[in-house]
Amino acid sequence: MSDFNPFSLTSKTVLVTGASSGIGRAVAIACSKMGARLVLLGRNKQKLETTLGLLAGDGHMTLAADLTERGTFVRMTDTLPALDGIVHCAGIGQRALCKQLTEQDVDSIMDTNFKGPILLQQTLLEQKKVKKGGSIVFLSSIAACSPSIGHAVYSASKGAIISYAKCLSLELAPRKIRVNCISPAMVWTDLIRNEGLDEDQLKEDESRYPLKRYGQPEDIANLAIYMLSDASSWMTGSNVKISGGTY
Ligand SMILES: NC(=O)c1ccc[n+]([C@@H]2O[C@H](COP(=O)([O-])OP(=O)(O)OC[C@H]3O[C@@H](n4cnc5c(N)ncnc54)[C@H](OP(=O)(O)O)[C@@H]3O)[C@@H](O)[C@H]2O)c1
Repeated sequence: MSDFNPFSLTSKTVLVTGASSGIGRAVAIACSKMGARLVLLGRNKQKLETTLGLLAGDGHMTLAADLTERGTFVRMTDTLPALDGIVHCAGIGQRALCKQLTEQDVDSIMDTNFKGPILLQQTLLEQKKVKKGGSIVFLSSIAACSPSIGHAVYSASKGAIISYAKCLSLELAPRKIRVNCISPAMVWTDLIRNEGLDEDQLKEDESRYPLKRYGQPEDIANLAIYMLSDASSWMTGSNVKISGGTY
């Protein structure tokens, strides 16, 4: 049998933010199964340890950190090995009508979904922690381009990350570091369960998807593997929608 596997992550080190839950946890588990060594970042130490226990292989580490506390970034990234891949999954959701938005609403979403990842990325680049030929992936959302009531600031934060990632891809191309975004539709994680809609409403919405289901975190993890692997070595500056057929 052939051992052809363009998606292998063997001997790569990958940092996953938001690794304590949902999509980030699934990405970390899938990457470990593909041979990567993982650095797991999140706020909740206990949940990070749970993810750590689910990984294949060894040599992984956890990093408990809050992405809104930028003062700690240099000290934190100092402890990291050189990285072949980074998947920025950490993020929060929010529902608020535009006329009811407060400055605090705007700050909390933009701090976590936009400023946190881009300033962490800045620190990693400045500290020379991203290897030549590396791959950087940002979790955006179809919300960036598909409007829905109550999600204006969340959508804006996800649109901003796509614009940022496209510019970053040009800046890093000379070092063959690639930068791409994943834009999922609804995926079964705590993020949507905590939105205030009940399970029946979510199930009804799910039934309207052309493929008749919301995504599972593993669906997104498989795309992240592709983007991190050498199989996608000609892909940069892209934003890939993964949506079960919904718009
Ligand atoms: N689920 C969906 O339908 C969906 C759709 C499109 C895009 N996305 C995007 O996918 C990404 C992952 O979301 P998810 O669905 O997996 O949500 P989730 O299960 O709620 O996980 C969110 C993760 O982000 C981490 N996080 C939040 N704020 C943080 C902060 N200030 N510092 C460090 N870590 C922080 C959480 O860590 P702690 O638990 O340790 O605090 C957790 O690990 C998000 O960017 C989200 O916008 C999700």
